[in-house]
Order: sequence, then C-alpha cells, then structure tokens
Amino acid sequence: MYNFRMHQTLVIGFCLRLQRPLNFKLLPNYRFCSTGHVCQVKKPQNTKGSHIPVMLNEILTILNPKEGQVILDMTFGSGGHSREILRTAPQLKQLIVLDRDPLAHEIALDFADEFRHCKILPLLGTFEDLPHLLQQHQVPTNSIHSVLLDAGASSMQYSAANRGFSLSLNGNLDMRMNELREADQPTAADVVNTLDEKSLQELIKKYGEEKKAHDIAHAIVQFRAAFGKIVTTHQLVAIVASVFDSPMKLDKLQRPAHVATKTFQALRIFVNNELNQLSNGLLVAHSYLKEEGKSVDNKEQKSGGSEELLKRMSMRRGH
Ligand SMILES: C[S@@+](CC[C@H](N)C(=O)[O-])C[C@H]1O[C@@H](n2cnc3c(N)ncnc32)[C@H](O)[C@@H]1O
Repeated sequence: MYNFRMHQTLVIGFCLRLQRPLNFKLLPNYRFCSTGHVCQVKKPQNTKGSHIPVMLNEILTILNPKEGQVILDMTFGSGGHSREILRTAPQLKQLIVLDRDPLAHEIALDFADEFRHCKILPLLGTFEDLPHLLQQHQVPTNSIHSVLLDAGASSMQYSAANRGFSLSLNGNLDMRMNELREADQPTAADVVNTLDEKSLQELIKKYGEEKKAHDIAHAIVQFRAAFGKIVTTHQLVAIVASVFDSPMKLDKLQRPAHVATKTFQALRIFVNNELNQLSNGLLVAHSYLKEEGKSVDNKEQKSGGSEELLKRMSMRRGH
C-alpha cells in the first residue's frame, strides 16, 4: 500500500538537504576547485590556455625531446605539455597532437599557426580513431620517438559550467568530452535518469569505487520518483551529499574532497568510455613507437579493485 507519510517525509527530507549550501568556508588562499578537491590558489603560470600541465618537469625529463624527433601528444587539452615540449626542443621533426574535444582541437589549430616553423599536426578524434587518422596523414607505424598520454578531463573542460564536469559550478549534467561529434552518446543526465537502481549502484561502485554506491543509487532513484529528472550538476551534488553526514571528507591521498567527487568521476568515465579508450590508446601508442621509443602515461587507473593514481613513466616498447 502507498505510504503517504513516508513519501512526505522523503520529499521534505530531500528539500531540506537540497538547501545545504554548496559553498564551504575555506582558509584564505584555498578554494574549492571544480574537481571536488580543495586546491591552493596559485598565480597562473601560463597565460595561453587555462591548463597548468601536471608533473611537467618529470614528464620532460623522461621524454627528453630532441631535435629531429617525432612526438605524439595524445591528450593535447589546452596544450600545456605540448608547448613545453616545443620550448625544450623547437627543432622537432614533427609534433602530432590529438584530442577528442573540438574546443581543444581549435586551440591546437591556433597552436600550429603560432609555431608555424615547426611541423605540428593537429588531429581531432579519440584514441580509437588514431590509427585511421595517422594512416590518413601517412604516418608510418614504428616511426614515433615518444608518446605522451595525460588522460582524464582538462581544467578547460572543468571550468565550463554547462559541460557538466564540475561539482562547484552549476550547469547541465552532460560530461561528454565531445558533445558535437558523438551526439548519440548518452549524457550523464541520461545515465542517472534512465538506469535502474542496481545498474546505477554497479556503475558508481565500479568506476568511482564509492563505498556508499548503494545509498547514492537509492537516493537518485528516490529523487526521480519524487521530483522527476535530474538535470543539473548541483542537483546531483545535493542528492549525493544527502546520504553523507558531512559534504567533505579526506580522499586516499588525504586531501579534503567533496563527497560527490567519486560519483562524478564514475559518470565521466562511463559516459566517455574512458577505460576502453585508454587500453586501446596504449596499444595504438605502442604500435606506432619506434623500437626504443618512450611512452609517458599519466592516468588514474583501476587495479585490483582499488583506484590508485598510477604514474607509469618511461615504458619501453615491448615491456
Ligand atoms: C588532462 S587533459 C590534458 C591536458 C594537457 N596535457 C595540457 O597540458 O593542457 C586530458 C585531455 O585529453 C582528452 N582526452 C581524454 N580522453 C581522450 C580520448 N580517448 N581520445 C582523445 N582525447 C582524449 C580530453 O578531451 C582532455 O582535453
């Protein structure tokens, strides 16, 4: 029998919890960044593009780019790493840059224009498209000296509210890295509004390694029943927060993080088919590397059921 009192309590409970403020007071010089973590505010070091390249010195040391080499940056983003590669070795034979995001590709086209003296080849597509794209441009296999793969989403993607990657900015719950070319790909909103509770739980657990996946999936389904579709990032943030006592907790690296971070990560990985893309990407990269070529893969990887931040550096072909 339908229990009206319970329904009412649930609706009121949701309404109260949904009003939980999303801006938390932080220490001066710290801000709540779009990935869900608390970040120290730093003066931007690069003016071109908003991405400050991660592990720059380590990556450059391993890549050790040299005159006459061919280098492939599989995740161009806003070009932070590529720019530094060229600064280190302006006389490369060729710098091939790939991204699936049309906005990143536009930046890559400008980048190629800016560094006209270098042979830059900007490519729009996914890791899976890469063999076809390289063939189209007559790049032979076993011809690339180094490959850089800096997977995940870029700060450019996080900082656009309507792309739906950000926890702190309110916008459409989308999360597709290319909403133009892959128009039939489901958005994060499609996923949370159509999957049943069990599938949602599995997804959040598998791709987000979220211990409260069961409660979060239940809250999502209850919200749908009470209010209809989940449309915005802040609706989802509030639904996830409603199953926790506090909106912040420490992550594995002991950084304070918002409790919705893992759920957002799970949806982003699922929507963009990131794990399959990654394993294909590594295969493609290795088939194009020269015998003694290097690949630097900087990615979050699942292993043994627990998520680790793996910095797999300097992997020689065949190893
Ligand atoms: C972390 S950012 C890279 C930032 C870049 N290294 C920089 O310094 O600006 C990752 C980029 O990879 C792209 N990307 C992620 N998965 C991809 C895939 N499967 N195929 C092509 N590009 C991908 C994203 O669109 C994003 O722009």
